[in-house]
Amino acid sequence: MSKIRVRDAYCRRAEEYIQAVGSMDHVHRDDRELVLKKAKLADGLVLDAGCGPGHWTNFLQEHGAEVTGVDLAPAFVERARQRFPRVPFRDGSLEDLQVPDGSVAGILSWYSIIHTDPGDVGKILDEFARCLKPGGYLVAGFFEGPRLEAFDHQIVGAYRWPVHELSGALEDAGFSVRGVRTRTDPGRRPHGAILARKDLGDNQLGDQGLGTRFSAASPGVVTRCPESAPVPGGVPGNGDDLDVVLMRERPRAG
Ligand SMILES: C[S@@+](CC[C@H](N)C(=O)[O-])C[C@H]1O[C@@H](n2cnc3c(N)ncnc32)[C@H](O)[C@@H]1O
Repeated sequence: MSKIRVRDAYCRRAEEYIQAVGSMDHVHRDDRELVLKKAKLADGLVLDAGCGPGHWTNFLQEHGAEVTGVDLAPAFVERARQRFPRVPFRDGSLEDLQVPDGSVAGILSWYSIIHTDPGDVGKILDEFARCLKPGGYLVAGFFEGPRLEAFDHQIVGAYRWPVHELSGALEDAGFSVRGVRTRTDPGRRPHGAILARKDLGDNQLGDQGLGTRFSAASPGVVTRCPESAPVPGGVPGNGDDLDVVLMRERPRAG
C-alpha cells in the first residue's frame, strides 16, 4: 500500500476514526498495561510512531513519559494537537523518523505498520533500530493471523502477520523478541503484540536465563515463563512473562 494512499485515506476519514477507536476507552486494559510498563522504564524519549489522533501519546505523557507522536497523516497530527495541546506531535514518516542514531529510549508502533507492504516493513524496522539506544524497547501491535496476507481494512488495505514472521523480521533488523501476546476479542480481528529489544551488539547482557524467548525458526512456538517463576535477586515473578523479563533485565542494564 503506497504511503500516499495511506495518508490520504486517514486524512479523509480522520474524524470517523477518532469516533470509532480514537480514545483510550477503546484500548484493551492488557494493552494499556503492557505499553505503560515499558514506557515507565524508558530512560529518555519515547516515540509514538504512527500515533494517529494521539490518544496513546497523551496517555503516555499523562503517566510521566517524555513522548512525541509522529504520523504520516497531517489531519491526525492537527487533530492530535487540538485534542492534547500539551503533547508534542509532528508530521513524519516511519521510514525516516528524523532523530539522531541511538537517541530514543522506546518506540510504540501501535498498528502503524499494518498498511505497509511486507517487503517494505524491514526498512521501517531498520529505522526503529537506528533510532533506539542499545537495549531500548519496541512495542508493536498488529493484526495477527496464521499466514501473512492482505485484507480489506475499513480505512485502507492492511496485512495480518503471523507472530513468527514478524518476529523474524524484527530479528533481521537487530532486535531480540522478548515477549509475545495474542488475543481474539469477541467481534474483533485477532490481535498480536510483540515486545522487542534492540540488541546491544556485543551480547553484554547475554540472553542466558531469561524467561521468554521466541524462536523465529519455530513458527507458533512461544516459550513463556512458568507461573510465579522465581527471579534471580529474589523478586517474585507474577506469571506475566513480560514482567519477568523486565525484572530480570533491570539489574543487568547499564
Ligand atoms: C491503524 S492507525 C493506528 C493509529 C494509532 N497508533 C492508534 O493506535 O490508534 C495507523 C496509523 O499509522 C500511520 N502510518 C501508516 N504508515 C505510516 C508511515 N509510513 N509513516 C508514518 N505513519 C504511518 C497512519 O497515518 C495512521 O495514523
